[in-house]
Amino acid sequence: MNALHRDLCLLLNQVEHSTCPNPKWRLNYHLMPPVGWLNDPNGLCFYQGEYHFFFQYSPFRAEGGLKFWGYYKSKDLIHWDYCGVPLLPDQPYDCHGVYSGCAYTDGKEMRIYYTGNVKYSGDYDYIQNGRGSNTITALIQNGKAVQKECLMTNENYPENVTCHVRDPKVWKEKEKLYMILGARTKEEKGIALIYTSEDGKNWNLINHISTEKPFGYMWECPDLFPLQDHRILSVSPQGIEAQGIDFQNVYQSGYFFLEGDFSGEYHLSSFREWDRGFDFYAPQTFQDEKGRRILVGWMGIPDCEEFYTNPTTSLGWQHAFTLPREIIFQNGTLLQKPLEELQFLRKEQKILPDFLLCPSCFELILELENPNGLLISIEDSLFLEYNQKDQIFTLRFEGEIGSGRTSRSVILTELKKIHLFADTSSLEVFLNDGKEVFSTRYYPKENQVLLKKHCSTIQASFWELNAIEIQRKEEKI
Ligand code: FRU
Repeated sequence: MNALHRDLCLLLNQVEHSTCPNPKWRLNYHLMPPVGWLNDPNGLCFYQGEYHFFFQYSPFRAEGGLKFWGYYKSKDLIHWDYCGVPLLPDQPYDCHGVYSGCAYTDGKEMRIYYTGNVKYSGDYDYIQNGRGSNTITALIQNGKAVQKECLMTNENYPENVTCHVRDPKVWKEKEKLYMILGARTKEEKGIALIYTSEDGKNWNLINHISTEKPFGYMWECPDLFPLQDHRILSVSPQGIEAQGIDFQNVYQSGYFFLEGDFSGEYHLSSFREWDRGFDFYAPQTFQDEKGRRILVGWMGIPDCEEFYTNPTTSLGWQHAFTLPREIIFQNGTLLQKPLEELQFLRKEQKILPDFLLCPSCFELILELENPNGLLISIEDSLFLEYNQKDQIFTLRFEGEIGSGRTSRSVILTELKKIHLFADTSSLEVFLNDGKEVFSTRYYPKENQVLLKKHCSTIQASFWELNAIEIQRKEEKI
């Protein structure tokens, strides 16, 4: 343990044990930072009977800052342990942030891969020069990252990329290990690099993956995974202009179908956004022991403050994960389904009346009959609407409740079902069994909200939801 590690541990202990965010707007069944800031899901995996969820964590500032990895684990996705901070920026090759990465496990050990961020002081632009983006591995043992090893530095990456190379995701296929990394080229094009390795330590570049025409200047958090007979390339591109109702957020997250050979000739389909709401970025997927492909996103987005904000920042914390979603491919369509485990949170089932003043943690399933116009409102300030003629579904805010959020829409040729999860200051809306999803934060004044149903339904089920349980399990450092 070096001196920097010791000092950081002291500060962490102080901030995590002596500060507690103001409970207003804290979520009941989503994972959040214990204090301060959370961004990307990292190292998601199922290992030795437990789900392990790490996260980009900036405990000292709710506005973000130096990045650590925080750590939650659970056997059932309902009872969680908060296991503290296993990974700290304590080495010369990761001292300005232990950035995003993954966990790879063969069942015997859990190995993480992540990016060590280094910002050299000097007159640099930090894009073409001045930044180290190191690919590092470590083992997770007894809840701590041990045996850190720096595997690649900027000198090892191909000639055509800038200093922005990051977010390794590793998987095994046909006895070989593969790694995908996101990158920004010197021509300002977002790409992904594919590496292969026999031993998990020595990596050889085998392919560049990108679109023919540039699609953004940087691809963050790439993830390449099989889904039934398809292969999905998920990326979070930066630098895409809005096109009508598409690509409305400052940065995007979505996926391509990759046909052909990712290590040779391939073709990318058009890009589809994972989520059409205001608050979704940098998702990561993993497979659990039931064989489910599960996706978790960051329910937040960087650099959006010019447009909308999160008033929790002044209460000592910011951001959360989305609910975990199972991704399936059915009748030619990719669907995102809230995990069935979430049903354990349900209280008694009720039929939703036209008006209801209810606690702000609830789930709603509406089977719709010929929907048109306003469908649902919350606090007379947040509206879900469907325009049958134009085939557009819209989530719209009025007044202060959205803290600057306005409206987001998607084309939907028909609307049959709305499945909604509300958690104090978040909403996730699944349309037509997860064909489209909208995730957003919102900030009602009270912890009771006025819910109105404005449409006719075949069925309208409502449940208040219990909270997940989180125990603090971290060893004192
Ligand atoms: C995405 C991202 C990653 C990076 C991490 C730093 O939100 O910018 O590319 O590794 O966040 O926190």
